[in-house]
Amino acid sequence: MKVLVIGGGAREHALCRSLSLDPDVNALYCAPGNAGIAEVAELRPVDALDGEAVARLATELRADLVVVGPEAPLVAGVADAVRAAGIPVFGPSGEAAQLEGSKAFAKDVMAAAGVPTARSYVCTTPEEVDEALDAFGAPYVVKDDGLAAGKGVVVTADRAAARAHALGCDRVVIEEFLDGPEVSLFAITDGVTVLPLQPAQDFKRALDGDEGPNTGGMGAYSPLPWADPKLVDEVMASVLQPTVDELRHRGTPFSGLLYAGLAITSRGVRVIEFNARFGDPETQVVLARLRTPLASVLLNSANGTLDAEPPLRWREDAAVTVVIASHNYPETPRTGDPITGLAEVAGQDAPHAYVLHAGTRREGDAVVSAGGRVLSVTATGSDLAEARTRAYKAVSRIGLDGSQYRTDIAAKAAEGR
Ligand code: AMP
Ligand code: GLY
Repeated sequence: MKVLVIGGGAREHALCRSLSLDPDVNALYCAPGNAGIAEVAELRPVDALDGEAVARLATELRADLVVVGPEAPLVAGVADAVRAAGIPVFGPSGEAAQLEGSKAFAKDVMAAAGVPTARSYVCTTPEEVDEALDAFGAPYVVKDDGLAAGKGVVVTADRAAARAHALGCDRVVIEEFLDGPEVSLFAITDGVTVLPLQPAQDFKRALDGDEGPNTGGMGAYSPLPWADPKLVDEVMASVLQPTVDELRHRGTPFSGLLYAGLAITSRGVRVIEFNARFGDPETQVVLARLRTPLASVLLNSANGTLDAEPPLRWREDAAVTVVIASHNYPETPRTGDPITGLAEVAGQDAPHAYVLHAGTRREGDAVVSAGGRVLSVTATGSDLAEARTRAYKAVSRIGLDGSQYRTDIAAKAAEGR
């Protein structure tokens, strides 16, 4: 099978790594990719937001399957353009991707499907904003309605800061604060059949101890030893299947990856957000544990034949990933700094630990930073403690001037807390 992956972050590197290990895949392309992905896939330049250009490239490459990684092309309808060219594509239509593209749309779907989530108001005027802030009280949760790369959400006890963020958005969702640990659960679906993956936990805040601003995600681990073993079944029944059914009944079936961001509150599981694609960095740890070859699962989603797929098989191993981010991330990050230590990790820590590239590019012989999140250092082990030790050992070999990473990824879970 010839597969073309669209995107160029650590999630796409993880996808390409798994696909490159799949005996069914005999040609693997990534567009636009990055310096790390170039080691497992052939890179092609493309404007990932241009559906016609992506469809042309897929046709030219005679791709049997296109996998669209990031949310922006999905919301822009890139999967629709590829589908219209007659090529199977893993990823939802632009309309179905509104589940991620508009928080207000997601809330509407959840209300119709009876999916548990935070109570919320959609506000467009300062008066509505004040009313909603007062109705819920502190801590305030204020979400830009549109796509914001994980940075559109402000959670704060400071009413003035909450109000200022709300007034900076055209349309804003203000909602009830949800307490409790967060879990990311992914499911692969073809619009009818839903196949859950293993849960992971993401670390959204920039600094140790969950301090600092929200980011796209600074690290992740899987499995979750503290979670109820029935969690996946429960979320399938109360969240994933009803959401997929609701979207099908609306005439906008959702196929691809449905990402449920969940809070495990004292009153039960609540959806914090939906995404329409694999999460980053959670994908790095979930795919590290997946034993089932990936290509046929993705192709069955694309073709609407997921009911033919046997249950997914998983390794006993635990996995941890630690994100190395640029100086000044998540504000305007500094880029263009050389990265050292990659060969040392490949030589001394593989196969248990490896580096997935997020924002990197090649400059002559050097690999340099090219984005906010630069690398996602991933490791497996017989338990979280071992995976964590291996991941941080590999992190310690990497040099990147001014870079930052969290030192507490998976620490509590590894200690059984
Ligand atoms: P989102 O982009 O919706 O995932 O929000 C980013 C982060 O903000 C989430 O991962 C949570 O940590 C936090 N957050 C979002 N909504 C809520 C909420 N209703 N209550 C508490 N924290 C929230
Ligand atoms: N790690 C959070 C996300 O992918 O949205």
